[in-house]
Amino acid sequence: MLSVIPAPKNAKELGGIFVLPEKVKVKSDFELPLLEGKVEFCDSEEEASVIVIKDDKIAEEGYILGVTRENIVIFASKKIGVYYALQTVRQLAHLDTGGREVLCCDIEDEPRFGFRGLSLDVSRHFYDVDYVKKYLDWMFMQKLNVFHWHLTDDAGWRVEIKKYPLLTEIGSKRTCTQLNGWHSTKMEQKPYSGYYTQEQIKEIVAYAKERGITVIPEVDFPAHCAAVFAAYSDLACRDLKRDVPGYFGAKIPTKIFNQKDWNRTLCMGKEESLQFVYDVLDEICDMFDSPYIHVGGDEAPKDEWKKCPNCQRVIKENNLKNEEELQGWFENKLSQYLKTKGRQMIGWNEVLEGKNIDTSDKNIVVQYWTPKRDKNAEAYVNSGGKMIMSNHQSFYFDMPYAQYSLKKTYKFNPENFGVTNDNIKNVLGVEGEVWTEWIRGRERLEMLVFPRMQALSEVAWSPEEKRDFADFKLRLDDFKPTFDAMGINYAVDKISMLTNPFKRSKILKKFSKGNTELENQLNAQYKTKGER
Ligand code: ACM
Ligand code: ZN
Repeated sequence: MLSVIPAPKNAKELGGIFVLPEKVKVKSDFELPLLEGKVEFCDSEEEASVIVIKDDKIAEEGYILGVTRENIVIFASKKIGVYYALQTVRQLAHLDTGGREVLCCDIEDEPRFGFRGLSLDVSRHFYDVDYVKKYLDWMFMQKLNVFHWHLTDDAGWRVEIKKYPLLTEIGSKRTCTQLNGWHSTKMEQKPYSGYYTQEQIKEIVAYAKERGITVIPEVDFPAHCAAVFAAYSDLACRDLKRDVPGYFGAKIPTKIFNQKDWNRTLCMGKEESLQFVYDVLDEICDMFDSPYIHVGGDEAPKDEWKKCPNCQRVIKENNLKNEEELQGWFENKLSQYLKTKGRQMIGWNEVLEGKNIDTSDKNIVVQYWTPKRDKNAEAYVNSGGKMIMSNHQSFYFDMPYAQYSLKKTYKFNPENFGVTNDNIKNVLGVEGEVWTEWIRGRERLEMLVFPRMQALSEVAWSPEEKRDFADFKLRLDDFKPTFDAMGINYAVDKISMLTNPFKRSKILKKFSKGNTELENQLNAQYKTKGER
Protein backbone atom coordinates (compact mmCIF):
# COMPACT_ATOMS: atom_id res chain seq x y z
CA MET A 1 0.00 0.00 0.00
CA LEU A 2 1.30 3.42 -0.92
CA SER A 3 0.52 5.40 2.15
CA VAL A 4 -0.33 8.87 0.92
CA ILE A 5 -3.13 11.27 1.88
CA PRO A 6 -4.77 12.50 -0.30
CA ALA A 7 -4.74 9.34 -2.42
CA PRO A 8 -3.06 10.04 -5.76
CA LYS A 9 -4.99 9.80 -9.01
CA ASN A 10 -2.90 6.90 -10.27
CA ALA A 11 -0.25 5.09 -8.29
CA LYS A 12 1.62 1.84 -8.84
CA GLU A 13 4.03 0.21 -6.45
CA LEU A 14 7.04 -1.27 -8.22
CA GLY A 15 8.93 -3.21 -5.55
CA GLY A 16 12.19 -2.18 -3.99
CA ILE A 17 13.11 0.97 -2.14
CA PHE A 18 15.09 4.14 -2.61
CA VAL A 19 16.95 5.37 0.45
CA LEU A 20 17.21 9.13 0.74
CA PRO A 21 20.83 9.98 1.47
CA GLU A 22 21.85 12.09 4.47
CA LYS A 23 22.37 15.08 2.20
CA VAL A 24 19.85 15.12 -0.63
CA LYS A 25 21.16 16.58 -3.88
CA VAL A 26 18.59 18.06 -6.26
CA LYS A 27 18.94 18.95 -9.91
CA SER A 28 15.97 21.10 -10.81
CA ASP A 29 14.59 23.02 -13.80
CA PHE A 30 12.73 25.18 -11.24
CA GLU A 31 13.97 27.43 -8.50
CA LEU A 32 12.64 25.89 -5.28
CA PRO A 33 13.11 28.46 -2.51
CA LEU A 34 11.36 26.35 0.12
CA LEU A 35 14.14 23.76 -0.20
CA GLU A 36 16.95 26.29 0.39
CA GLY A 37 19.10 25.14 3.28
CA LYS A 38 17.40 21.73 3.37
CA VAL A 39 18.95 20.17 0.28
CA GLU A 40 21.97 20.79 -1.92
CA PHE A 41 21.27 21.92 -5.48
CA CYS A 42 23.52 20.51 -8.20
CA ASP A 43 23.88 20.54 -12.01
CA SER A 44 24.53 16.89 -12.71
CA GLU A 45 21.84 14.24 -13.03
CA GLU A 46 24.35 11.54 -12.05
CA GLU A 47 25.04 13.23 -8.72
CA ALA A 48 21.41 14.07 -7.96
CA SER A 49 19.09 11.88 -5.90
CA VAL A 50 16.12 14.03 -6.96
CA ILE A 51 15.77 15.21 -10.56
CA VAL A 52 13.07 17.77 -11.35
CA ILE A 53 12.07 18.26 -14.98
CA LYS A 54 9.72 20.92 -16.35
CA ASP A 55 6.99 19.49 -18.54
CA ASP A 56 4.35 21.95 -19.70
CA LYS A 57 1.91 19.20 -20.62
CA ILE A 58 1.24 18.43 -16.96
CA ALA A 59 -1.77 20.06 -15.23
CA GLU A 60 -1.06 23.18 -13.18
CA GLU A 61 -0.95 21.53 -9.76
CA GLY A 62 -0.21 18.03 -11.03
CA TYR A 63 2.99 16.02 -11.11
CA ILE A 64 4.47 12.76 -12.23
CA LEU A 65 6.70 11.04 -9.72
CA GLY A 66 8.96 8.09 -10.44
CA VAL A 67 10.88 6.45 -7.63
CA THR A 68 13.44 3.78 -8.56
CA ARG A 69 16.29 2.20 -6.62
CA GLU A 70 18.58 4.81 -8.22
CA ASN A 71 16.75 8.09 -7.81
CA ILE A 72 13.56 10.13 -7.68
CA VAL A 73 12.36 11.87 -10.84
CA ILE A 74 9.63 14.51 -10.79
CA PHE A 75 7.89 16.06 -13.78
CA ALA A 76 5.71 19.16 -13.32
CA SER A 77 4.67 22.24 -15.25
CA LYS A 78 4.69 24.56 -12.23
CA LYS A 79 6.69 24.85 -9.04
CA ILE A 80 3.63 23.92 -6.98
CA GLY A 81 3.46 20.54 -8.75
CA VAL A 82 7.05 19.90 -7.67
CA TYR A 83 6.24 20.83 -4.09
CA TYR A 84 3.21 18.54 -4.09
CA ALA A 85 5.34 15.69 -5.45
CA LEU A 86 7.76 16.32 -2.61
CA GLN A 87 4.89 16.29 -0.09
CA THR A 88 4.05 12.86 -1.47
CA VAL A 89 7.68 11.76 -1.05
CA ARG A 90 7.67 13.18 2.48
CA GLN A 91 4.74 10.90 3.37
CA LEU A 92 6.09 7.85 1.53
CA ALA A 93 9.41 8.19 3.38
CA HIS A 94 7.81 9.04 6.76
CA LEU A 95 10.31 11.87 6.82
CA ASP A 96 8.81 13.60 9.85
CA THR A 97 9.41 10.57 12.04
CA GLY A 98 12.98 10.12 10.79
CA GLY A 99 12.25 7.70 7.92
CA ARG A 100 14.41 7.75 4.79
CA GLU A 101 13.09 4.79 2.76
CA VAL A 102 10.76 5.43 -0.18
CA LEU A 103 8.92 2.57 -1.86
CA CYS A 104 9.68 2.45 -5.58
CA CYS A 105 6.61 3.61 -7.46
CA ASP A 106 5.12 5.44 -10.39
CA ILE A 107 2.59 8.13 -9.50
CA GLU A 108 0.60 10.34 -11.80
CA ASP A 109 -1.36 12.89 -9.85
CA GLU A 110 -3.56 15.95 -10.18
CA PRO A 111 -6.42 17.39 -8.14
CA ARG A 112 -10.11 16.72 -8.60
CA PHE A 113 -11.08 20.27 -7.55
CA GLY A 114 -9.18 23.52 -8.09
CA PHE A 115 -10.58 25.01 -4.86
CA ARG A 116 -9.52 23.04 -1.77
CA GLY A 117 -10.19 25.22 1.21
CA LEU A 118 -10.05 25.46 4.96
CA SER A 119 -11.22 28.43 7.00
CA LEU A 120 -10.25 29.89 10.33
CA ASP A 121 -12.47 32.22 12.35
CA VAL A 122 -10.12 34.54 14.21
CA SER A 123 -12.88 36.86 15.43
CA ARG A 124 -14.43 34.75 18.18
CA HIS A 125 -10.98 33.57 19.24
CA PHE A 126 -7.77 34.99 17.89
CA TYR A 127 -4.84 33.01 16.50
CA ASP A 128 -1.52 34.82 16.06
CA VAL A 129 0.72 35.06 13.01
CA ASP A 130 2.97 32.16 14.02
CA TYR A 131 0.02 29.84 14.55
CA VAL A 132 -1.58 30.86 11.25
CA LYS A 133 1.70 29.97 9.53
CA LYS A 134 1.61 26.53 11.14
CA TYR A 135 -1.96 26.10 9.97
CA LEU A 136 -0.82 26.97 6.44
CA ASP A 137 2.04 24.46 6.68
CA TRP A 138 -0.44 21.73 7.61
CA MET A 139 -2.73 22.69 4.73
CA PHE A 140 0.24 22.61 2.34
CA MET A 141 1.13 19.12 3.58
CA GLN A 142 -2.38 17.99 2.53
CA LYS A 143 -2.33 19.80 -0.83
CA LEU A 144 -5.04 22.25 0.26
CA ASN A 145 -4.77 25.54 -1.59
CA VAL A 146 -7.29 28.06 -0.19
CA PHE A 147 -7.12 29.63 3.25
CA HIS A 148 -10.42 31.41 3.99
CA TRP A 149 -9.61 33.87 6.74
CA HIS A 150 -12.72 34.95 8.66
CA LEU A 151 -11.36 38.29 9.86
CA THR A 152 -14.41 40.11 11.12
CA ASP A 153 -17.47 39.22 13.13
CA ASP A 154 -19.57 40.48 16.01
CA ALA A 155 -17.05 39.37 18.63
CA GLY A 156 -14.09 41.27 17.18
CA TRP A 157 -12.72 43.10 14.13
CA ARG A 158 -9.23 41.70 13.47
CA VAL A 159 -7.73 43.48 10.48
CA GLU A 160 -6.19 46.95 10.50
CA ILE A 161 -8.07 49.39 8.25
CA LYS A 162 -6.17 52.68 8.10
CA LYS A 163 -9.14 54.83 7.13
CA TYR A 164 -11.20 53.57 10.08
CA PRO A 165 -8.75 53.21 12.99
CA LEU A 166 -11.49 52.65 15.58
CA LEU A 167 -12.28 49.28 13.99
CA THR A 168 -9.21 47.91 15.72
CA GLU A 169 -8.81 50.47 18.53
CA ILE A 170 -12.31 49.69 19.77
CA GLY A 171 -13.69 46.89 17.59
CA SER A 172 -10.91 44.38 18.31
CA LYS A 173 -11.46 44.47 22.08
CA ARG A 174 -14.13 42.96 24.27
CA THR A 175 -14.45 42.92 28.02
CA CYS A 176 -15.87 39.44 28.48
CA THR A 177 -16.34 36.10 26.74
CA GLN A 178 -19.19 33.62 26.98
CA LEU A 179 -18.30 30.23 28.38
CA ASN A 180 -20.03 26.84 28.27
CA GLY A 181 -21.79 26.84 24.94
CA TRP A 182 -24.82 28.37 23.29
CA HIS A 183 -27.38 29.99 25.62
CA SER A 184 -25.11 29.67 28.64
CA THR A 185 -25.20 32.64 30.97
CA LYS A 186 -21.67 32.09 32.23
CA MET A 187 -19.33 34.86 31.17
CA GLU A 188 -15.62 35.14 31.70
CA GLN A 189 -15.01 38.73 32.80
CA LYS A 190 -11.61 39.21 31.25
CA PRO A 191 -10.46 41.57 28.47
CA TYR A 192 -9.90 39.84 25.14
CA SER A 193 -8.30 41.42 22.07
CA GLY A 194 -6.11 40.92 19.04
CA TYR A 195 -5.75 42.01 15.45
CA TYR A 196 -3.35 41.79 12.51
CA THR A 197 -1.57 44.86 11.17
CA GLN A 198 -1.57 45.31 7.40
CA GLU A 199 2.12 44.34 7.42
CA GLN A 200 1.31 41.07 9.20
CA ILE A 201 -1.50 40.34 6.75
CA LYS A 202 0.87 40.83 3.83
CA GLU A 203 3.43 38.59 5.52
CA ILE A 204 0.84 35.81 5.80
CA VAL A 205 -0.34 36.28 2.21
CA ALA A 206 3.26 35.97 0.97
CA TYR A 207 3.92 32.95 3.20
CA ALA A 208 0.81 31.23 1.87
CA LYS A 209 1.62 32.10 -1.74
CA GLU A 210 5.03 30.42 -1.48
CA ARG A 211 3.10 27.27 -0.57
CA GLY A 212 0.58 27.52 -3.39
CA ILE A 213 -2.17 28.77 -1.05
CA THR A 214 -4.50 31.64 -1.92
CA VAL A 215 -5.71 33.60 1.08
CA ILE A 216 -9.33 34.69 0.75
CA PRO A 217 -10.30 37.31 3.32
CA GLU A 218 -13.83 37.43 4.65
CA VAL A 219 -15.21 40.73 5.87
CA ASP A 220 -18.79 40.10 6.84
CA PHE A 221 -21.55 42.51 5.68
CA PRO A 222 -24.33 43.54 6.16
CA ALA A 223 -24.70 41.52 9.40
CA HIS A 224 -22.21 40.13 11.94
CA CYS A 225 -21.20 43.78 12.33
CA ALA A 226 -21.54 44.35 16.09
CA ALA A 227 -17.81 45.11 16.36
CA VAL A 228 -18.19 47.67 13.56
CA PHE A 229 -21.06 49.36 15.40
CA ALA A 230 -19.08 49.40 18.66
CA ALA A 231 -16.55 51.54 16.78
CA TYR A 232 -18.84 53.47 14.41
CA SER A 233 -22.36 53.33 15.79
CA ASP A 234 -23.78 55.67 13.13
CA LEU A 235 -23.36 53.03 10.39
CA ALA A 236 -26.37 51.11 11.71
CA CYS A 237 -29.97 52.23 11.19
CA ARG A 238 -30.24 53.46 14.78
CA ASP A 239 -27.23 55.08 16.41
CA LEU A 240 -26.95 53.04 19.63
CA LYS A 241 -23.83 52.87 21.75
CA ARG A 242 -22.93 49.23 22.34
CA ASP A 243 -19.75 47.38 23.32
CA VAL A 244 -18.22 44.55 21.33
CA PRO A 245 -20.26 41.59 22.59
CA GLY A 246 -18.59 38.66 24.27
CA TYR A 247 -21.73 36.63 23.84
CA PHE A 248 -22.01 34.36 20.80
CA GLY A 249 -25.70 33.57 20.42
CA ALA A 250 -28.07 35.60 18.29
CA LYS A 251 -30.14 36.79 21.27
CA ILE A 252 -28.39 38.01 24.38
CA PRO A 253 -30.15 37.42 27.70
CA THR A 254 -30.17 40.99 28.92
CA LYS A 255 -29.96 39.91 32.54
CA ILE A 256 -26.35 38.82 32.06
CA PHE A 257 -25.25 41.33 29.47
CA ASN A 258 -27.19 44.53 29.26
CA GLN A 259 -26.76 44.93 25.55
CA LYS A 260 -30.17 44.62 23.97
CA ASP A 261 -30.24 45.39 20.24
CA TRP A 262 -26.74 44.39 19.33
CA ASN A 263 -27.53 41.93 16.52
CA ARG A 264 -28.15 44.41 13.74
CA THR A 265 -27.29 45.12 10.16
CA LEU A 266 -25.63 48.00 8.34
CA CYS A 267 -28.06 50.68 7.27
CA MET A 268 -28.65 50.44 3.54
CA GLY A 269 -29.95 53.97 3.25
CA LYS A 270 -27.03 55.95 4.63
CA GLU A 271 -24.40 57.20 2.20
CA GLU A 272 -21.67 56.71 4.82
CA SER A 273 -22.52 53.02 5.39
CA LEU A 274 -22.02 52.09 1.76
CA GLN A 275 -18.93 54.30 1.56
CA PHE A 276 -17.57 52.49 4.61
CA VAL A 277 -17.97 49.11 2.90
CA TYR A 278 -16.27 50.33 -0.29
CA ASP A 279 -13.42 51.90 1.67
CA VAL A 280 -12.85 48.71 3.63
CA LEU A 281 -12.92 46.67 0.42
CA ASP A 282 -10.35 49.05 -1.12
CA GLU A 283 -7.87 48.36 1.68
CA ILE A 284 -8.72 44.65 1.71
CA CYS A 285 -8.01 44.44 -2.03
CA ASP A 286 -4.67 46.19 -1.47
CA MET A 287 -3.70 43.60 1.16
CA PHE A 288 -4.96 40.46 -0.60
CA ASP A 289 -4.25 39.43 -4.17
CA SER A 290 -6.86 36.65 -4.28
CA PRO A 291 -9.25 36.50 -7.25
CA TYR A 292 -12.11 36.21 -4.73
CA ILE A 293 -13.16 38.43 -1.84
CA HIS A 294 -15.66 36.97 0.65
CA VAL A 295 -18.23 39.48 1.89
CA GLY A 296 -20.26 37.19 4.13
CA GLY A 297 -23.96 37.94 3.70
CA ASP A 298 -25.18 35.26 6.10
CA GLU A 299 -27.71 35.49 8.91
CA ALA A 300 -28.78 39.10 8.33
CA PRO A 301 -31.72 40.17 10.53
CA LYS A 302 -34.02 42.52 8.64
CA ASP A 303 -36.16 43.91 11.48
CA GLU A 304 -34.41 47.29 11.66
CA TRP A 305 -34.53 47.74 7.89
CA LYS A 306 -38.31 47.36 8.12
CA LYS A 307 -38.56 50.34 10.46
CA CYS A 308 -35.76 52.53 9.10
CA PRO A 309 -36.91 55.44 6.90
CA ASN A 310 -33.55 55.48 5.11
CA CYS A 311 -33.72 51.79 4.24
CA GLN A 312 -37.35 52.07 3.21
CA ARG A 313 -36.47 54.98 0.90
CA VAL A 314 -33.94 52.77 -0.91
CA ILE A 315 -36.55 50.03 -1.27
CA LYS A 316 -38.96 52.51 -2.80
CA GLU A 317 -36.47 54.26 -5.06
CA ASN A 318 -35.27 50.97 -6.48
CA ASN A 319 -38.67 49.30 -6.77
CA LEU A 320 -37.62 46.51 -4.45
CA LYS A 321 -40.29 44.14 -3.18
CA ASN A 322 -39.07 43.72 0.38
CA GLU A 323 -36.10 43.66 2.74
CA GLU A 324 -34.80 40.41 1.24
CA GLU A 325 -34.49 42.23 -2.06
CA LEU A 326 -32.79 45.07 -0.23
CA GLN A 327 -30.04 42.66 0.72
CA GLY A 328 -29.94 41.40 -2.88
CA TRP A 329 -29.58 45.02 -4.05
CA PHE A 330 -26.67 45.47 -1.62
CA GLU A 331 -24.97 42.24 -2.69
CA ASN A 332 -25.26 43.26 -6.36
CA LYS A 333 -23.55 46.54 -5.52
CA LEU A 334 -20.71 44.74 -3.76
CA SER A 335 -20.29 42.34 -6.64
CA GLN A 336 -20.18 45.19 -9.16
CA TYR A 337 -17.72 47.13 -7.02
CA LEU A 338 -15.43 44.13 -6.67
CA LYS A 339 -15.72 43.48 -10.39
CA THR A 340 -14.34 46.95 -11.15
CA LYS A 341 -11.34 45.89 -9.07
CA GLY A 342 -10.96 42.65 -11.01
CA ARG A 343 -12.30 40.46 -8.19
CA GLN A 344 -15.14 38.03 -7.83
CA MET A 345 -17.41 38.11 -4.83
CA ILE A 346 -18.07 35.12 -2.60
CA GLY A 347 -21.19 35.18 -0.43
CA TRP A 348 -22.85 32.61 1.82
CA ASN A 349 -25.93 31.06 0.24
CA GLU A 350 -28.33 33.45 2.03
CA VAL A 351 -27.30 36.12 -0.50
CA LEU A 352 -29.67 34.37 -2.91
CA GLU A 353 -32.72 34.82 -0.69
CA GLY A 354 -33.77 38.09 -2.29
CA LYS A 355 -34.16 36.46 -5.72
CA ASN A 356 -32.91 39.69 -7.30
CA ILE A 357 -29.24 38.76 -7.31
CA ASP A 358 -27.74 39.59 -10.66
CA THR A 359 -26.48 36.26 -11.92
CA SER A 360 -25.97 37.32 -15.53
CA ASP A 361 -22.23 37.91 -15.29
CA LYS A 362 -21.55 35.00 -12.90
CA ASN A 363 -19.43 37.28 -10.75
CA ILE A 364 -20.92 35.94 -7.53
CA VAL A 365 -19.67 32.65 -6.16
CA VAL A 366 -22.03 31.11 -3.65
CA GLN A 367 -20.74 29.21 -0.64
CA TYR A 368 -23.36 26.66 0.37
CA TRP A 369 -23.29 26.05 4.12
CA THR A 370 -26.80 25.91 5.60
CA PRO A 371 -27.74 22.78 7.56
CA LYS A 372 -31.08 22.82 5.71
CA ARG A 373 -31.15 22.21 1.97
CA ASP A 374 -31.49 25.48 0.08
CA LYS A 375 -33.49 25.41 -3.15
CA ASN A 376 -32.08 28.77 -4.25
CA ALA A 377 -28.50 27.58 -3.88
CA GLU A 378 -29.18 24.34 -5.71
CA ALA A 379 -30.97 26.16 -8.54
CA TYR A 380 -28.03 28.57 -8.75
CA VAL A 381 -25.38 25.90 -9.25
CA ASN A 382 -27.62 23.92 -11.59
CA SER A 383 -28.07 26.94 -13.81
CA GLY A 384 -24.37 27.63 -14.21
CA GLY A 385 -23.53 29.64 -11.07
CA LYS A 386 -20.24 28.81 -9.40
CA MET A 387 -20.32 27.25 -5.97
CA ILE A 388 -18.12 26.22 -3.06
CA MET A 389 -19.56 23.37 -1.03
CA SER A 390 -19.23 23.69 2.75
CA ASN A 391 -22.28 21.73 3.75
CA HIS A 392 -22.77 21.71 7.48
CA GLN A 393 -23.04 17.92 7.86
CA SER A 394 -19.66 17.30 6.25
CA PHE A 395 -17.63 20.43 6.61
CA TYR A 396 -18.51 22.20 9.87
CA PHE A 397 -15.40 21.12 11.71
CA ASP A 398 -16.35 23.06 14.84
CA MET A 399 -19.16 20.58 15.48
CA PRO A 400 -18.48 17.65 17.82
CA TYR A 401 -17.57 14.36 16.12
CA ALA A 402 -20.51 12.92 18.05
CA GLN A 403 -22.68 15.02 15.74
CA TYR A 404 -20.74 14.69 12.49
CA SER A 405 -18.29 11.83 12.50
CA LEU A 406 -15.20 11.70 10.32
CA LYS A 407 -17.01 9.47 7.86
CA LYS A 408 -19.53 12.25 7.14
CA THR A 409 -16.68 14.42 5.92
CA TYR A 410 -15.08 11.62 3.97
CA LYS A 411 -18.27 10.52 2.24
CA PHE A 412 -19.21 13.98 0.97
CA ASN A 413 -20.52 14.16 -2.56
CA PRO A 414 -21.89 17.27 -4.30
CA GLU A 415 -24.73 15.13 -5.70
CA ASN A 416 -26.03 14.58 -2.17
CA PHE A 417 -26.69 18.30 -1.96
CA GLY A 418 -28.65 18.66 -5.13
CA VAL A 419 -25.92 19.29 -7.67
CA THR A 420 -26.84 17.41 -10.83
CA ASN A 421 -24.18 15.40 -12.63
CA ASP A 422 -24.00 17.87 -15.49
CA ASN A 423 -23.35 20.71 -13.10
CA ILE A 424 -20.59 19.26 -10.95
CA LYS A 425 -18.37 21.36 -13.21
CA ASN A 426 -19.87 24.46 -11.52
CA VAL A 427 -18.59 23.30 -8.15
CA LEU A 428 -15.25 25.06 -7.73
CA GLY A 429 -14.48 22.86 -4.79
CA VAL A 430 -14.99 22.19 -1.11
CA GLU A 431 -14.03 23.91 2.12
CA GLY A 432 -13.91 22.96 5.79
CA GLU A 433 -15.15 25.58 8.27
CA VAL A 434 -13.51 26.25 11.60
CA TRP A 435 -15.68 28.59 13.67
CA THR A 436 -14.15 29.33 17.03
CA GLU A 437 -16.91 30.28 19.46
CA TRP A 438 -16.08 27.18 21.51
CA ILE A 439 -12.50 26.80 20.39
CA ARG A 440 -10.48 28.79 22.88
CA GLY A 441 -7.06 27.50 21.96
CA ARG A 442 -4.96 25.24 19.79
CA GLU A 443 -5.55 21.98 21.66
CA ARG A 444 -9.27 21.75 20.92
CA LEU A 445 -8.85 23.36 17.53
CA GLU A 446 -6.49 20.61 16.41
CA MET A 447 -8.62 17.87 17.94
CA LEU A 448 -11.55 19.04 15.82
CA VAL A 449 -9.56 19.71 12.65
CA PHE A 450 -7.39 16.56 12.63
CA PRO A 451 -8.09 14.14 11.02
CA ARG A 452 -11.01 15.95 9.37
CA MET A 453 -8.46 17.95 7.36
CA GLN A 454 -7.11 14.68 5.95
CA ALA A 455 -10.60 13.52 4.97
CA LEU A 456 -11.31 16.91 3.42
CA SER A 457 -8.10 16.77 1.41
CA GLU A 458 -9.09 13.43 -0.04
CA VAL A 459 -12.58 14.69 -0.98
CA ALA A 460 -11.00 17.75 -2.57
CA TRP A 461 -8.08 16.09 -4.33
CA SER A 462 -8.63 12.40 -5.05
CA PRO A 463 -10.78 11.07 -7.89
CA GLU A 464 -14.17 9.79 -6.81
CA GLU A 465 -13.29 6.19 -7.71
CA LYS A 466 -10.17 6.26 -5.51
CA ARG A 467 -12.11 7.14 -2.37
CA ASP A 468 -12.54 4.26 0.02
CA PHE A 469 -13.02 4.86 3.74
CA ALA A 470 -11.46 1.56 4.89
CA ASP A 471 -8.35 2.23 2.83
CA PHE A 472 -8.24 5.85 4.04
CA LYS A 473 -8.39 4.59 7.62
CA LEU A 474 -5.29 2.40 7.07
CA ARG A 475 -3.36 5.30 5.58
CA LEU A 476 -4.53 7.55 8.40
CA ASP A 477 -3.21 5.07 10.98
CA ASP A 478 0.12 5.19 9.19
CA PHE A 479 0.03 8.99 9.39
CA LYS A 480 -0.57 9.26 13.13
CA PRO A 481 3.09 9.01 14.21
CA THR A 482 3.65 12.02 11.93
CA PHE A 483 0.94 13.96 13.80
CA ASP A 484 2.70 13.06 17.04
CA ALA A 485 6.10 14.08 15.70
CA MET A 486 4.64 17.42 14.61
CA GLY A 487 2.95 17.95 17.97
CA ILE A 488 -0.56 17.94 16.46
CA ASN A 489 -3.34 17.09 18.91
CA TYR A 490 -5.47 14.90 16.63
CA ALA A 491 -8.69 13.08 17.58
CA VAL A 492 -8.27 9.34 18.19
CA ASP A 493 -10.59 6.83 16.47
CA LYS A 494 -12.70 6.42 19.61
CA ILE A 495 -13.69 10.07 19.18
CA SER A 496 -13.56 10.74 15.45
CA MET A 497 -15.17 7.44 14.44
CA LEU A 498 -17.48 6.85 17.38
CA THR A 499 -20.51 4.98 16.05
CA ASN A 500 -22.36 3.92 19.21
CA PRO A 501 -25.55 6.03 19.05
CA PHE A 502 -26.03 6.06 22.83
CA LYS A 503 -22.52 7.29 23.52
CA ARG A 504 -22.87 9.85 20.76
CA SER A 505 -26.12 11.23 22.07
CA LYS A 506 -24.69 11.39 25.58
CA ILE A 507 -21.78 13.51 24.37
CA LEU A 508 -24.12 15.74 22.37
CA LYS A 509 -26.47 16.20 25.29
CA LYS A 510 -23.56 17.29 27.47
CA PHE A 511 -22.33 19.59 24.71
CA SER A 512 -25.73 21.26 24.48
CA LYS A 513 -25.78 21.64 28.26
CA GLY A 514 -22.51 23.54 28.15
CA ASN A 515 -19.73 20.98 28.33
CA THR A 516 -17.96 22.11 25.19
CA GLU A 517 -14.68 20.50 26.29
CA LEU A 518 -15.94 16.96 26.80
CA GLU A 519 -14.65 15.38 23.58
CA ASN A 520 -11.35 17.10 24.10
CA GLN A 521 -11.07 15.75 27.63
CA LEU A 522 -12.06 12.24 26.58
CA ASN A 523 -9.60 12.41 23.72
CA ALA A 524 -6.78 13.31 26.10
CA GLN A 525 -7.74 10.44 28.43
CA TYR A 526 -7.84 7.95 25.55
CA LYS A 527 -4.45 9.13 24.35
CA THR A 528 -2.91 8.62 27.80
CA LYS A 529 -4.19 5.05 27.64
CA GLY A 530 -2.41 4.53 24.32
CA GLU A 531 -5.42 4.84 21.99
CA ARG A 532 -4.64 6.17 18.55
C1 ACM B 1 -22.29 30.61 8.81
O1 ACM B 1 -21.97 29.57 9.42
N1 ACM B 1 -23.11 31.48 9.36
C2 ACM B 1 -21.78 30.88 7.48
ZN1 ZN C 1 -31.46 51.74 7.71
